Order: sequence, then C-alpha cells, then structure tokens
Amino acid sequence: MIEHIERLLKSRIGLDAESIGRSVIERAVRQRMNAIGQPAIEHYWTTLSGSPREQQALVEAVVVPETWFFRYPESFNALAGLALERLAQLGGSRPLRLISLPCSSGEEPYSIAMALLDAGLAPSQFHIDALDVSDKVLELARRGLYGRNSFRGQPLDFRQRHFHEQAGGFLLDARVRACVSLRTGNLLDPGLFAGQAPYDFIFCRNLLIYFDRPTQVRVLESLKRQLHKGGTLFIGPAEASLASQSGLQAIGRQQTFAFCLAPARPVPPQAPQPSAPRLRPPPVARPIAPARPRSQPSAIAPVVPVVPATRADDAWQTVAELANAGRTEQAWQRCQEHLQTHGPSAEAYYWLGLLSDVQNNVEQACAYYRKAIYLDPQHREALTHLAAHLQAQGDPNAAQRLYRRAQTPEVGKRD
Ligand SMILES: C[S@@+](CC[C@H](N)C(=O)[O-])C[C@H]1O[C@@H](n2cnc3c(N)ncnc32)[C@H](O)[C@@H]1O
Repeated sequence: MIEHIERLLKSRIGLDAESIGRSVIERAVRQRMNAIGQPAIEHYWTTLSGSPREQQALVEAVVVPETWFFRYPESFNALAGLALERLAQLGGSRPLRLISLPCSSGEEPYSIAMALLDAGLAPSQFHIDALDVSDKVLELARRGLYGRNSFRGQPLDFRQRHFHEQAGGFLLDARVRACVSLRTGNLLDPGLFAGQAPYDFIFCRNLLIYFDRPTQVRVLESLKRQLHKGGTLFIGPAEASLASQSGLQAIGRQQTFAFCLAPARPVPPQAPQPSAPRLRPPPVARPIAPARPRSQPSAIAPVVPVVPATRADDAWQTVAELANAGRTEQAWQRCQEHLQTHGPSAEAYYWLGLLSDVQNNVEQACAYYRKAIYLDPQHREALTHLAAHLQAQGDPNAAQRLYRRAQTPEVGKRD
C-alpha cells in the first residue's frame, strides 16, 4: 500500500521516494493516519486517494521546508550585480521579473528583495513572484516573523536594516514584504507558467534533488522555456551538475550556482538531416570554488575548502581550476597523486567528494565526505555537504547533527 502512496506523491509533487528516503514518507503517512484516526493503511489509502484535501495534508507532512536568509550568500551578491546590468540593458522599459520557486517560508524571496534594495534598486524596478506547494510555509512567509533558525550566517547587518525585533522573533519590514507576491504553485503543474512572461531571474533551489531523473529533466526544460534569453537561473549546489547536463551554462562565478541559456549554435551550412540523431554539447562541469582562508567572514555554508594558507593552497587551487574547466578527470588524478605523495588528507577526500558530486555519484561522494570528517571532524564543508545528502536521503536527525557541528564556533560564527 505504501507503494501506492509513494506513486501518488511522485505524480502530485514529483517527490522521489528513493531520494528523500522511504522512512520519511512512512513517517508522514503514520502522522496523517494518527491525525485522522485511521490506524489501517488500507483505509487510509482509500481516504487519501479520494480526497484532494488529505492529499494536500500529506504533502504538508512530507515536504522539507529547510531554508534560511541569504543561503549561499555569493548568489545574492552576484544577483545584485546582474540585476543592475540587466536594468541597464532594459533601459527602464519594464521592471525586472524574478521568481523564487520553491520559496518555502519566504527567506529566499525576501533575501532577493533585500539584496536588490540594498544594491540601490527602487521597489518599482523589480517584482518577485514566490511560489510553493505548501500552504503552511506560505502562511509563515505572509506573517514575516522569523526566529533565529532563519538567520544562520554572518554578517547579520541585513537584520538590523530590514527587521524589527519583537516578541517571538524578528518582523520583516513591510517595504521588503511588498516586493514579493506569494502564492501556491506546484512546479509540476504543466499550466503553471501559462500566459506568463518569461523571468529575468529564476531561483529554483533545493527541490530538484528530491525528483527522479526524468522529472528533473522535464522541470529544467520548463524552467529554461520560462527564462528570458538574457536571464539567469539559480539552483542549489547539489543540483548544478543537472543544470550543466541539460545544456545550461555556468555563469562562471564561484559559489553562485548560477546558469544562463547556452548561446544558440550557428546552423551548419550543409543540408538538414532531420532523422539523424543530434549530438548534444558535452556537459559543462559545475563551478567549484578554490580554497579560501578560514578567516573570510561572510560564508554561511561555503563550498570552499578550509585549509591553512600553506603550499597546500596551490594544490587545491589547481584542482579547483581543473574542475572549473570541466577537466574532472585531471582534477581527480591530482587528488589521488596528492594522497599517494602526502598520505591521507581531509582536504583530498573532501575534493574527491565534490568531484563525485559533479559526476552525480552520491554514494561515493558521501563515502569521501565521511573520510574527510574522520580525519578532520570539524571540516565544515565536508560536514555541510554530507548533511545535505543525508537530509535528501531522509535522515534529517543525522543531517541536523552535522549541520550543528558545522556551525560550532571553532569553524563558523553564529548569531
Ligand atoms: C528545501 S525547501 C527549499 C527552499 C528554498 N528554495 C531554499 O533553497 O532555501 C523545499 C521546498 O519545496 C517545496 N516543494 C516540494 N515540492 C514542490 C513542488 N512540486 N512544487 C513547488 N514546491 C514544492 C516544499 O514545500 C519546500 O518548501
């Protein structure tokens, strides 16, 4: 019976039981069975299959709403610059169109709004649509009242500028809230963008990881159609290789996970051969950041490795350059050589984990991140990456433990 429920969730919201972990779905089903007092799963299935309302309640119980303000801060820095460029290109002919989908409880679209306002844009120069399948999280976004969990990085100066502290948390200014239109939306709905103009900037982060491959491909194609020719798509770090494989081009700024449409290829002069299979352009590797010193202040969950400023920096800088140039195999080889010459090192294993992620080999990536953590229990990036995978695999408790460890004062600052 649980298989029927899994299939229903997949067709309704794209959720792939394998990627999120079956136990997460089972837990949500048990929670709903208790809530409506139906102890037998057969009876629950009968209710569920005939009730859109119960289906929505199950969706609410199963989604992962994890988010926080200025998650991957570099992407918001990049957005501010790109938005100014785009406005100049448009010459004031219309406001910028942006979308955050899924927006969860609002931290992402509101971060977009704050980044643009702080960059000097007037509210009339842009508009942000924010959609999510969960009404519960949208309600939180409408309230605009946030607890400490929504502020996980440094610096927090944006909180001083745009929030008021009050009982129960920090209330977001109405000026920022007015820049965002919140509404229910399902990324799988084929009519979702019907009649909508394309967007200059699309944020679709940390949802594709819960879909199976055909659904990921379908969704990315739909996002590409909805992206303006000069637009930018921001996705999550674990999703970057998917974007590359679907023909999008990394914009080439580290830690932004930002992509644009590949330029149209010139039509070859020879006669067309409609039935011949077409070769796809080779996938572009996801951009990987080079090593950065531990003292850099702004990162929440940076992808960069943390290494002391020694000659080792040169080695990892080279590995980063190779990876960013799409030369994954050479980058891999450099790591192996480093291991052979210098013995086991957390940094080498961390990089092998990242390179495994680039190749979409999650199992191998996790194994390398674990090795890195074994050698350096405070390796923040390995902790964060492994946590993201565990979260996606349906082990939120283990993921939270790792996230907490990654944020201990020795390796990161907290508010
Ligand atoms: C991990 S959060 C991501 C939030 C934000 N984009 C970020 O990266 O911080 C995932 C969100 O996806 C939403 N979601 C799940 N399936 C969806 C679908 N098919 N369409 C729209 N939203 C969906 C969930 O309700 C949840 O709020």
